[in-house]
Amino acid sequence: MVDVILGMQWGDEGKGKIVDFFAKDYSLVARFQGGPNAGHTLYVNGQKIVLHQIPSGIFHPGIQNLIGNGVVLDPVTLKKECAAVAALGVDVKKNLFIAQRAHLILPTHRALDKAAELAKGEQKIGSTLKGIGPTYMDKTGRNGLRVGNLLDADFTAQYQKLRLKHQQLLDNHGFAEDIAAWETEFFEAIEFLRTLHVVNGEYFINEAIASGRKVLAEGAQGSMLDIDFGTFPFVTSSNTISAGVCSGLGIAPQTIREVYGVTKAYCTRVGGGPFPTELNDETGERLRQIGSEFGATTGRPRRCGWIDLVALKYACMLNGVTALVMTKADVLDTFATLQVGMAYEINGVKTDQMPFELIAPSLKPLYRSFSGWQQPITEFRQPAELPTLMQEYIQFIESYLGVPVRFVSNGPGRDQLIERSACAH
Ligand code: GDP
Ligand code: IMO
Ligand code: MG
Repeated sequence: MVDVILGMQWGDEGKGKIVDFFAKDYSLVARFQGGPNAGHTLYVNGQKIVLHQIPSGIFHPGIQNLIGNGVVLDPVTLKKECAAVAALGVDVKKNLFIAQRAHLILPTHRALDKAAELAKGEQKIGSTLKGIGPTYMDKTGRNGLRVGNLLDADFTAQYQKLRLKHQQLLDNHGFAEDIAAWETEFFEAIEFLRTLHVVNGEYFINEAIASGRKVLAEGAQGSMLDIDFGTFPFVTSSNTISAGVCSGLGIAPQTIREVYGVTKAYCTRVGGGPFPTELNDETGERLRQIGSEFGATTGRPRRCGWIDLVALKYACMLNGVTALVMTKADVLDTFATLQVGMAYEINGVKTDQMPFELIAPSLKPLYRSFSGWQQPITEFRQPAELPTLMQEYIQFIESYLGVPVRFVSNGPGRDQLIERSACAH
């Protein structure tokens, strides 16, 4: 049996915290897509840690963590992250497993990411520059190197062959940065990777499922960054939705039980691309400051705005969401009025469906206003303590979406999560 936790918006919904909280009820946590573009923040014993590659179950001693085949893996980031996690007393080598079919991010993939963004100029995606796009391109283009290739005697020759191909592309871009230091780091990290448990991920996970162990699949990015259904081309290069769980881990659809969709009580986006409910004003700035909305991977300020129910309803449909987790509700504590995006008006026509593109110049969100609860909620632990005005805000959202908001997160801490209704896990 597999439950899934994934993002409903443009990433950074607080998935890491929620996975860390849920993990204790599972025996295996598995990342199924994305790579070090992810930044999942956890607080463990009051200490902040940001995970990019390692699944967010790593701080639970008895739980195994799998980096699935659908992930693109940067050995350099992984090595650094393993050291940071080990420094907190975790026996990371014991509980971390890596699928041999996961593709490797090479130094030249990072360089190509940078070169491609520079070439796009104003139209750049705002990528995290971690080499995600070029690595997935080499996967679908059938050129990439995989973790399992580390065992090949001619791994270095395979690397050089691909590197040469990349160099030609970099030359075409006029990219002249010296990446020799990146390569030294890469080969050191490759040696480290060879000391970790590399497994046949699909058998590893299916055997766990067959023996009755519970698996938690951890999404990265968010549904609106999905390569097929997000705001293309301003998206990432993987399927971030629940369908990606099957291909990213090698499991069958009927093994999936709950799909928990994580959404902020408002909305953010980092990088380029359309964002209909964005607030380019004082209110947006207040959300950014109160919510500490700065990227966990790149440190960039996140764009902020109101919750967008058109996008959320779309994400509920695509993912088959069975329950929602609303995070960062406490960030709204001081706002007198809250707006909820209910529909879009495009060329004077109202719609509650996601259009082909969100960039129509005439697109404007239609809102419904709610009175804010204007009281601090961070100390609350019981659903009955939540203010009535907040209950009204949440009840409206869940009735619009037709999906229950089962959990409300009221602070970054591990214990700041309120269960509103009974849960299957
Ligand atoms: P992820 O990528 O989805 O795991 O999310 P990030 O870690 O990138 O960003 C979420 C940020 O919000 C992190 O700094 C978390 O510590 C923080 N956070 C998570 N839940 C809450 C919450 O309920 N309230 C507040 N104030 N912060 C939260
Ligand atoms: P987590 O897992 C927020 C965004 C980038 C850029 C676009 C493409 O922490 O929620 P990429 O590097 O993937 O080619 O960038 O996607 N992006 C994220 N935004 N959270 C993330 O991950 C993201 N991963 C990528 O900012 O707009
Ligand atoms: Mg993040």
